[in-house]
Amino acid sequence: MAKTTRKALIPATLIPGDGIGPEIVKATLAILDALGAPFAWDVQSAGMAALKDHLDPLPEATLTSIRRNGLALKGPLTTPVGGGFRSINVRLREEFKLFGNVRPGKTVIPGGRYEDIDLVLIRENLEGLYVGFDHYIPIDNDPHGAAISSGVNTRAGSRRISRFAFEYAVRNGRKKVTIVHKANILKALTGIFLETALEIGKEYQDRLQIEERIVDACAMQLVMNPWQFDVILTTNLFGDILSDEIAGLVGGLGMAPGANIGEHAAIFEAVHGSAPDIAGRGIANPIALLYAAAMMLDHVDRQDLATRLRDAIHNTTVIDNVRTGDLGGKATTVEITEAIIRRIKQGGDPAPAKAAKPAAEAAPAAAAKPKAASPRSRKSS
Ligand code: NAI
Ligand code: MG
Repeated sequence: MAKTTRKALIPATLIPGDGIGPEIVKATLAILDALGAPFAWDVQSAGMAALKDHLDPLPEATLTSIRRNGLALKGPLTTPVGGGFRSINVRLREEFKLFGNVRPGKTVIPGGRYEDIDLVLIRENLEGLYVGFDHYIPIDNDPHGAAISSGVNTRAGSRRISRFAFEYAVRNGRKKVTIVHKANILKALTGIFLETALEIGKEYQDRLQIEERIVDACAMQLVMNPWQFDVILTTNLFGDILSDEIAGLVGGLGMAPGANIGEHAAIFEAVHGSAPDIAGRGIANPIALLYAAAMMLDHVDRQDLATRLRDAIHNTTVIDNVRTGDLGGKATTVEITEAIIRRIKQGGDPAPAKAAKPAAEAAPAAAAKPKAASPRSRKSS
């Protein structure tokens, strides 16, 4: 079937971010350009870069832009450890109620520690121990005599993320959802999550296999036999930790994308941070952010472009053997960018079926869609 012409551009906010952020964002923009991605970028700042220029790590103009567009691609933002600022990432998620964090882990480059991994972690993004009830209590002369943190998981929040995860699994042809918790110890905090997820899960029993796992056992099993997992549904902190572990199974942080999804906005980013140790050296791997951009293309119903992008990344790294240092290669950010663009321009050579089938990122219906009226794409085959 012939494709309809799509002229309408989709407005989206672009945040270059800190550390390696500007380098990988520049690479991503060049590649999206070559692909003909339909985004009209509104570049805004956040993080340490914004603190320097606007005296505010999260300027109002950036928030207004995301609010208007409901769609953003974001480079990593540095959060100083310890006192001072609350994580800007956490603030962004709260501001736009981005309750669902989708983090696919998929083997692209064969010959690593594990072959053929294809799983998706769905992390509750707003509750748990990230709510920020976290403080010191002075004892005697020690201002840090004790530290106290409280987590909050709500019935409503647990319901919302559970439904999101089950819908995601059904829509993307996944077979199994594993609910990951620590309800044996944190009986209330993660008990409510488990209890609610199992309850909502009953509605999906006919379509999905639903099981539960304690987080420490899950961490071990991910190393021993990651293939047993399909979709993992878990709370905020466990999701943070396990998604880095999953990135490690598929070649490291340079390969792992994530989407933060809410009802009115969606922000796409790499799982990794600003990598201050390699910032400015021109050697950062842009692929995690590129895969985030592919998820963003899926999100705006441009699966055709998302597939071309994933195929080009696959062909560049696997067939042409162009890889950055974190993947054992020697390519600079610019070299891998040019190599991916060459592959995009060449077209053809779809990646082998297994690798070409992305951890599909069609978001559940409840999730945000961009506000701009963009003609829906039709797959041509
Ligand atoms: P990190 O993810 O920035 O770096 C961890 C290690 O992975 C480093 O050795 C780094 O060089 C390497 N690495 C990460 N991304 C890479 C890439 N694209 N190519 C090649 N190597 C890469 O984690 P770290 O060092 O713990 O955090 C640095 C800063 O980033 C902190 O301020 C942290 O708060 C922030 N951060 C921000 C995130 C976000 O904006 N979503 C997520 C995680 C951390
Ligand atoms: Mg993390």
